[in-house]
Amino acid sequence: MGGIARTVGVLGHELRNPLAAAVTGAALLRELVDADDPRRRIVDGVAQELQRMSALIDSYLDFARCGQAKKELVRLAEVLAAAASRRESITVEGVLDAMVVGDAALLERAFDNLIENAFAAGATNVRIEARQDRGGLRLIIEDDGPGVPPELRARIFEPGYSRHGSTGLGLGFVQRVLQAHRGSIACENGARGARFVMKVPLAPVCAEA
Ligand SMILES: Nc1ncnc2c1ncn2[C@@H]1O[C@H](COP(=O)(O)OP(=O)(O)O)[C@@H](O)[C@H]1O
Ligand SMILES: [Mg+2]
Repeated sequence: MGGIARTVGVLGHELRNPLAAAVTGAALLRELVDADDPRRRIVDGVAQELQRMSALIDSYLDFARCGQAKKELVRLAEVLAAAASRRESITVEGVLDAMVVGDAALLERAFDNLIENAFAAGATNVRIEARQDRGGLRLIIEDDGPGVPPELRARIFEPGYSRHGSTGLGLGFVQRVLQAHRGSIACENGARGARFVMKVPLAPVCAEA
């Protein structure tokens, strides 16, 4: 792992616990101040900023982990089942017995990010399809939300770009995970909502089969 990534990782871990304590403290304080009390606005502001800092630190830690991505045999079905189990209305289909070489936890976090984004944008259903494609694996993640306008399909991957005032680090992380797996991700024209297409090489033993 590079120097900066290591520093961010260490700093992130050091900040995580005190920040969690501050988030809890702010939530307790909020309980003690009536909703119509003029001081409530200040407490709400503090609680919100602390939450934002927590989200940023978690994202930076996710990024830092990409530098140490594992190279293990991962069964796609397991990663998808774990990511899909956190929500209802997610359909998973295709060549789920496929194997890739990589880091199951990072891949799961990447799918989590895509799924959360779809629901945050207003989708009610997410469909994930895995296809085998010339030695590689093609994963399509589609939703029925409002979609991404063509002129924004490259920008949404820029770290810090968010249309709902969030951290904007999710898709940058997803892209970084795919790079760590010698793969790629792009946002394409969907039938209805947004459509993300990932490409990942299959584990050598599967590619030969
Ligand atoms: N499935 C989706 N449908 C519509 N817009 C999306 C979708 N996924 C991502 N986006 C857009 O891309 C932006 C960047 O996403 P992301 O990097 O995860 O940051 P964040 O979720 O913090 O805003 C989002 O703010 C949203 O505008
Ligand atoms: Mg996001």
